[in-house]
Amino acid sequence: MTTQAPWWQNAVGYQIWPRSFCDSNGDGIGDIPGIISKLPHLADLGIGFVWLSPVYASPQHDMGYDISDYRAIAPEYGTLTDMDRLISEARDRGIGIVMDLVVNHSSHEHEWFRAASASRDAPEHELYVWRDPAPDGGPPSDVQACFGGSAWNWCEAVGRYYLGYFSPYQPDLNWQNPALRRAIYDMMNWWYDRGIAGFRMDVISLIGKDVDAGVFEEGPDLHDFLQEMHRETRSDRDILTIGESWSVSRETAPLYCGRDRAELDMVFQFNHITRQWDPEHGKWRPRPFDLVAFKEELFGWQEALAEDGWNSLFLTNHDLPRQVSKYGDDGEYRVRSAKCLATMLHLMKGTPFVYQGEEIGMTNIRFSRLDQFRDLETLGLFEAEIAAGVSAEEFIAGANVNGRDNSRTPVQWTAGEHAGFSSGTPWIEVNSNHATINVDDDRAAPDGVIAHYRRLIELRRSYRIVSHGRFEGAAPEHPQVVAYARHLDGQRLAVIANLSGDTVDFDVPEEIATAGECLSHTADPRSAVAGRLSLLPWEAVAVLGAGG
Ligand code: GLC
Ligand code: CA
Repeated sequence: MTTQAPWWQNAVGYQIWPRSFCDSNGDGIGDIPGIISKLPHLADLGIGFVWLSPVYASPQHDMGYDISDYRAIAPEYGTLTDMDRLISEARDRGIGIVMDLVVNHSSHEHEWFRAASASRDAPEHELYVWRDPAPDGGPPSDVQACFGGSAWNWCEAVGRYYLGYFSPYQPDLNWQNPALRRAIYDMMNWWYDRGIAGFRMDVISLIGKDVDAGVFEEGPDLHDFLQEMHRETRSDRDILTIGESWSVSRETAPLYCGRDRAELDMVFQFNHITRQWDPEHGKWRPRPFDLVAFKEELFGWQEALAEDGWNSLFLTNHDLPRQVSKYGDDGEYRVRSAKCLATMLHLMKGTPFVYQGEEIGMTNIRFSRLDQFRDLETLGLFEAEIAAGVSAEEFIAGANVNGRDNSRTPVQWTAGEHAGFSSGTPWIEVNSNHATINVDDDRAAPDGVIAHYRRLIELRRSYRIVSHGRFEGAAPEHPQVVAYARHLDGQRLAVIANLSGDTVDFDVPEEIATAGECLSHTADPRSAVAGRLSLLPWEAVAVLGAGG
């Protein structure tokens, strides 16, 4: 008897960041009816599910990652009825809706926090993390918030500090409290019962923290809580859970998504991203891209989860720059490099994620003034970085390379006004390159980026070697080329991608060479990859043949 592989193992996910996806009513803000209107675009790509960034009620200090009511939709995004309609209309097209679960913290405007911060005697007080002041009246520890300043925030009414590990607008929920955990699981079940296909769990590796020991990431109770959550919410539901973790390593990943763990299906890990960051100034002081280190991470993760667990595959999301600008060439070779990066990633083993606009090769935006940025992180860390010796110019240059607003400019649907995103003034500037980079034009081009993504997504659905073949990395030290093979039932799929703007003579390693059918290519098709190949700039090719 063979057990059927879970649906998400040959599906491709598509992330929607609702504020910038599509605006249906001209208020300049993307919304749920706008998403519904674009379901044909998603169905045409062939995606299996949407990861929908938060649409819950929120004051939007961190663009919805600060939720004030977990069972309500932000009015600017629509209503619960719109949400139900999105779930059912997506389902009719074979697309599941995976919601974002942001439960490390709530908004400071959540009714729990209002009650909690009004009185120590309110039962809600226990739902958050409070500490008395240090003997000198200052914060209980010097832990810093991710978005700048102390993580401890003084609350006069109760005479205590509360923890806001990200910002004062995002008070940490107290996972040590069983009533809190019960309330979260009930809320999750309420959404599952509405028909969603799963949850992407925001910074989930923080929930087991031991605040007094100063252990935040992957704290002592993390896995107990994830197992409890699984028991209380999963039952026999056929859903997908993905945990976001900025600290998970190849060693700890199996604890989250190992077969017998009963925790999560996969994790979003960031080792391949953060490895490229400056050790001191992180992403604000960009460094030259190191492909060998990049491969060491990607290949290493493929190997670490080869037998147990499952990889998520992504190069960007709403917290990261546009991938064609970061890793590709957003000038002369924009189209080909966008396809090359996609090929390199999508033919690995795991579940690939496409971030809105990636399928047309959208690029970073270039701002020259701080007031053009909208992101709490960028605005919040400016002063700290200046104080740490980064100049204002350097900081803005860094934000233009790595800042979160790059991925948050509106999706470019047309060459027309506001890129067809909205009939009103968008909440953040539209990239002026929408005149040439937009969905309409890409779709009309015979060799557009969309067509390439459609093909890659279809390959995963129809070739088991793509979804389940064993991965074997090759030429790890080559500074320009990513090369690997997949193996299944005596077949071999060789994937070779030149991640550079140079023509590269590449000696195909024997263990991945093959000849047969060209499944995907960004330049001319090839029916064999063996011996010495002269790879064109940003050429990627995948050949399926014999070789086991
Ligand atoms: C995650 C989200 C990010 C958010 C943060 C705090 O990293 O992806 O957008 O700011 O968590 O919720
Ligand atoms: Ca709107």
